[in-house]
This record gives sequence, C-alpha cells and structure tokens, in this order.
Amino acid sequence: MNIILGIESSCDETAAAIYHQEKGIIAHALFSQIALHKEFGGVIPEIASRSHLEKINSIVQEVLNRAKITLDDITTIAVTSKPGLPGSLLVGVSFAKALALARTIPIIGVNHLEGHVFSACIENNVPFPHLCITASGGHTSMYIVHDFGKYELLGETLDDAAGEAFDKISKLLNLGYPGGPIIEKLASEVAFEDFFHYTRGNSKTTDFSFSGLKTAVLYDLVARGAYDMKAKKFLKEDDLHFKQQVASSLLVAITEIFKNKISLALKVHPEIKAVTFVGGVACNKYIKRELTQLAQKLNVTFFTPSPTYCTDNGAMIAFVGNYMAEKRQFSDLTLDILK
Ligand code: KG4
Ligand code: ZN
Repeated sequence: MNIILGIESSCDETAAAIYHQEKGIIAHALFSQIALHKEFGGVIPEIASRSHLEKINSIVQEVLNRAKITLDDITTIAVTSKPGLPGSLLVGVSFAKALALARTIPIIGVNHLEGHVFSACIENNVPFPHLCITASGGHTSMYIVHDFGKYELLGETLDDAAGEAFDKISKLLNLGYPGGPIIEKLASEVAFEDFFHYTRGNSKTTDFSFSGLKTAVLYDLVARGAYDMKAKKFLKEDDLHFKQQVASSLLVAITEIFKNKISLALKVHPEIKAVTFVGGVACNKYIKRELTQLAQKLNVTFFTPSPTYCTDNGAMIAFVGNYMAEKRQFSDLTLDILK
C-alpha cells in the first residue's frame, strides 16, 4: 500500500500533502508567502528560499498530523525537483533527501509542470487523450495528455506567462499583487465588457505570447493619457471606472486567446475527448465559465481543479509521485534540481 508524502517548494508556496493509494489525498498543508512578496510586486527569490527553510519542517509535520500518521507510515517521498527558483527548489529537495536518508524511504523527483498537468485528475476521472492548458505566473503551455505520465507539448509561451500578464498590468495600474484575482474582481464590476479591444495575437499557432498584449495595453494607456512613460507613473489613480475598463478588457482578451488556442488544437486533434485548465490562472471564474461553454460547443468535457489544487500545492506532487512509485520510477540521493 503506497502512502506518498508530496513536498512542493518551487516558488512562493511551501506545501506538503499525503496521497493514500486507496483513499486519494488525505491531507494537505500550505504556507503562502504572498504577504512577504507583496510590497515588491513579485516574488523575490532570496526571500522565498529563506522562508521555505523556516517553514518546511513545520508544514511537513502539520500534514502528517492532519493525516493522523507518522513518517513510519510513508512509503515514498515525492518532491518537486524542477523547474522553479533554484534556491527554493534546493530547500525542498535537500529536506526530502535528508528525510529519505534518515528514514530509509525511497525518493522521487517530480516535475512541477507534470504536477500541474495532472492536478485536474486528482478529483476527476478525466478521459484520455485530453488537452491540458497550464496557466500560472511562471508558465503557460498546452499539452496532449495520453495517459498518466505520458504527455506531449503542443505549444508554450514564447515570452511571458498568462499569470505574468495579469501581474504586470496590475503593477502598472498600482493595483497590487498577485494581479489575477484583483483584475478579475474589477472586471466583474463592469460585467466583463470588452471596452478597449486589445490584441489577441496570432491565433494560427499553438504557441502563446503575452508580452505583445502587455505592450499593447501599455501603449493604449499612454494614448489615453493614463500613463507617463518617462516618469513610469499611472495617471488615473482616482478613476475607478477606467481601471475597471482596463481590467475587464484585459481579462476578455486573455480569455479569447485561450479559446482560440483550444479551438485550434481540437481542430488539429479531433481524437481529444476532454479539456483541462490548470495552474493559478484556472482560479478565474470568468475564464472557467467561458471555457466550459466553448467545450460544450465543441463537444468535449471540461475539467478544472478546485482552487486549492490550481495554485501551487503538495497534492499534485504526491499524486504524480504515486503513479511514478507504481511504475517504480524512483530517484536516488544524487537527485538534483533543474536537470
Ligand atoms: O500556479 P501559481 O500559484 O504559481 C505559479 O506557479 O506561478 O499561479 C500564480 C499566478 C499569478 O500570476 C496570479 O496572478 C494568477 O496565478 N492568478 C490568477 C487568479 N488567481 C491567481 N489569474 C487570473 N485570475 C485569478 N483569479
Ligand atoms: Zn506552479
């Protein structure tokens, strides 16, 4: 009977979860560093790794307590080993290796993106093959998923990630960090109307690009007298309606980019039975609603994890760790980061 301890520390969340082969995820625990990075408008790697070091022991202890088990019950330790911030990854991997050595428990290095890709399968029976869109602050990619552990990259961002577009525009308007939820709230106040018709980019390729959209929004702000390029200053601080208009137009543009990519992928791959949308951006209710409607129209099922499993978490790492353990894809104590 496999009982997997999953550990995640690739960016700004220290997280752990327990996956029980028969019962599924039985506990998870997480410390979010958002408050530590807020004043800088983004993640500061040095602060992130120090915070992981402070929290990792108590988070792992907490998840064991919640599951009402001890380290003696753990059959495998799964840990995110790539990709991510090197200093942050090192904390999780070193901690996992120390535990594995001290307790003679097998260890498995898990790819963070594979974790996100299969996060939709934790709570749902998603049929194969399916299309998976991963959209977070660091990554935006599209995969065909053939089976557990078997996936094929169809396209990825050539520059910024989707979450980064929300975060950067939010920073430009002095709205705060992370930008996604703030932009969503402002957009909902004006009923998700498309006021400014920002560019949707190239809809004929399965790759993504969001830096063009970010630049287009910036130039549009300048043209509307809302941004001073020289002083790098937003000039409509007191104009709530204008901020709502920008937020709403941005959200609609990003949503339409996702819709275009899904339609294109399904045209080229008619064998696809379902679409999953994962990563931090998949917390967005408007995008979820729009993609659900699109999937209905295209005759495929749509799945998205609950918000706890959209943003970085230990459950997706423990889940992937379980099927890797079943296939005996263990690492050893030479496990390194970013390889
Ligand atoms: O997956 P995640 O927690 O961390 C990374 O691996 O990057 O994703 C964080 C990203 C941030 O860019 C944040 O702005 C975005 O997810 N995000 C959202 C929403 N909630 C979080 N984007 C759009 N709408 C949301 N409601
Ligand atoms: Zn992530």
